[in-house]
Parts: sequence; C-alpha cells; structure tokens
Amino acid sequence: MRIPVIAGNWKLFKNQADAAALVAGLIPLVKDTVGVEIVVSPVFTSLSAVREKICGTNIKLSAQNCYWEEEGAFTGEIAPGMLVDAGCSHVIIGHSERRQYFGETNETVNKKIKAALKAGLVAIFCIGETLEQREADKTFDVLRDQVNGGLAGITAADLAKVIIAYEPVWAIGTGKTASDDQAQEVHAFIRGLIAGEYDQATAAAIRILYGGSVKPENVKGLMSRPDIDGALVGGASLKADSFAGIVNFGK
Ligand code: 13P
Repeated sequence: MRIPVIAGNWKLFKNQADAAALVAGLIPLVKDTVGVEIVVSPVFTSLSAVREKICGTNIKLSAQNCYWEEEGAFTGEIAPGMLVDAGCSHVIIGHSERRQYFGETNETVNKKIKAALKAGLVAIFCIGETLEQREADKTFDVLRDQVNGGLAGITAADLAKVIIAYEPVWAIGTGKTASDDQAQEVHAFIRGLIAGEYDQATAAAIRILYGGSVKPENVKGLMSRPDIDGALVGGASLKADSFAGIVNFGK
C-alpha cells in the first residue's frame, strides 16, 4: 500500500509572518485527515516559523533545495544536515525551475539526492519534460535520462526514502494540467523504469506524485489513476482552503 503524499511547494513566496499564517489556517482544515502524508515547503527563512506551528500536527516540513556537502566554504548554500536541524523531514530536489534557472543537471541532482538521503531526509525528486521535448516526441527519453541520472548509484533500500515527482514543465503554473490519461501513462512508464533498474517490489513501493496546475477541482481524477500517488502543488498550495481541498481529495 502506497500512502498518498500531498506536498505544497511554496516556491519564492511567503515571508515568516505569511508562512506562519498560511500553515495556521491549514492545520484545522487537515487535522482529521488520515492516510495522507501532508508536506509543506516554505523558503529557508520561513522554515522555523512554520516548524513552530506544525509541531504536534500531521503536517511535515520540507525545504526546496539543498547542497551536497555537509559543510565548508560554499557561500550561500545549505547542507542537508542543517535542514534536519531546522526541523525538515523532506527536501525537494531537482525542481524544473532549479534545472532551468540555476543550472542543475542530472549529475548535481544525483549528488544532492545522495547527500539528502545520507542526512536522513526524504528526497522529493523532480523530473519532467518541457513542451519542446514533448512536441519532439522525446518525453520518454528525457524522463529515462532524468531517472537513470538522478538515481545513479542509489540502492533499492535507499529508494524507500525517495519520492518521485513528475512535473511536466509545460503544466507548471500555466493552468494546463496533463490529462489524467497523459499523467497515468507517464507514471506507469516511470514505475516501469524503476522495475527495470531495480525490481518489481521496489517499483510497487515507490510513490510517484504528479505536479503541474493541480487544484481541488482536478485532483480527484488524477488520484483515481493507479500509478498516481499524490501531488506536488505550487500555486494552489499558497491558500489554506485550496491546499486543504487537495489534501482532502478522498473526502
Ligand atoms: P503549479 O501547481 O503552480 O503549476 O506548480 C507546480 C509545481 O511546480 C510544484 O512544484
């Protein structure tokens, strides 16, 4: 049984006061929700404000990025162990915005995942094709490279601490969601890749989230598909009621 994950990626929004207010509004709306792993990912500087609020609740804390070294002369970076110290259980790695604007590659993503796992974090490993790649019929090649590159050298045991997030870049922040069929097709393909690289049991156990314009209105259809195990939500996670509407997809 794969426990569904609904994760909010707050991106570069919400200072400390706004982040604390958002999560304070969310807590009562999801407090009775069982059987769903609920994760929020504020900016680094709002982690502690959110941590204070979610203490003792069913909401988990994630960061949006980390570096792969534990410490050293790396100005501006944050180590995975420091995220654990800040109360994080999860970290998003390899988001398409980081690949697109900050030069992240399958190799650097791989280093970050390994470092995150070593520190005891759950890695939310993001993959996804651009519109150009989809139109050139390269979706499956791109995803295969991203999965093989990102997970190189990671054992089946370590994969238990990895959540894959499939986010087609053309569906992020555009209001264009992949159809339930399109998403299911890709999720099944990704699970097949894991079965090929690892084994059936590992593939059956890994959670694969969908991301890209997920809203309360479209989450049910996505979640009804066999290989879609949750959502990584951007815009709709910035309001307590819409995020709660996604978290409570089963109600
Ligand atoms: P939107 O939900 O705003 O499309 O963003 C998706 C995303 O990038 C989550 O990581």
